[in-house]
Amino acid sequence: MAEINGWNYLFHETLGSTNDEAQKYCLVPNRKTIVRAETQTSGRGRRGRKWISDKGNLFFSMALEFELKNIGSLVLISALSIAQTLEELDNTQDIKLKWPNDVLLNRKKVSGILIEKGNGNYMIVGIGINIVSSPDDKDLIYPTTSLAQCKINCTADEFLNRFMIKFEQNLSLVQQNKKDYLQNEWLQRASNLGKEILVHGEKKDETGFFAGIDENMCLLLKQNNQIKKIMVGDVFFIKDDNYAGI
Ligand code: BTN
Repeated sequence: MAEINGWNYLFHETLGSTNDEAQKYCLVPNRKTIVRAETQTSGRGRRGRKWISDKGNLFFSMALEFELKNIGSLVLISALSIAQTLEELDNTQDIKLKWPNDVLLNRKKVSGILIEKGNGNYMIVGIGINIVSSPDDKDLIYPTTSLAQCKINCTADEFLNRFMIKFEQNLSLVQQNKKDYLQNEWLQRASNLGKEILVHGEKKDETGFFAGIDENMCLLLKQNNQIKKIMVGDVFFIKDDNYAGI
């Protein structure tokens, strides 16, 4: 079987969703598998949204043993590793993290992460990176961009290889319990920290000031001098041309 950085690697031309295919590799202990597809016919996004999966972009899922209760660390290192990969490719561009797990390139969404529970004690981390194109954002809730649009010259293969090195490094920091360090790395790249935001939550919308994240990757929202923890939601930046007026 092919390998990338110690992970089993499976490539398909077309799949429904790489997250579904990755479930098949959650059975044997001590195995880490990457499932990649050139295109997906039913790519999924967060909160029941669709992920348009055109050829030339990168779609893959990682199946790894990971405790569900530590899912926050997995969310954190997945987004951080994408940001670090982009920084390595071009550190002159504006690369930021947006809670819970988006990466913004020049204030537009360049990637998506969907983490799902795998079989047994496995987790599945599904990642989509806009390499050559980004879907038309008129139907989407956020503006989007791609590496090509930002003149970052990198193929999907190269991105995956570079990403896997960063991800492994960060995974080993999680295993060494360096949570504070990782949280700090995330916060240093956080977009709109301290600013007023709108959160579309599960049940209602809330506004407040973005005060950071806790050790479980909950968003800390400051409202009238009280901190509220939010576990699920979509963040919109108030007073930002790209994100205002939704
Ligand atoms: C989001 O931002 O809403 C998350 C998008 C996650 C998309 C990736 S593409 C590879 C993997 N397979 C899927 O069906 N979804 C994830």
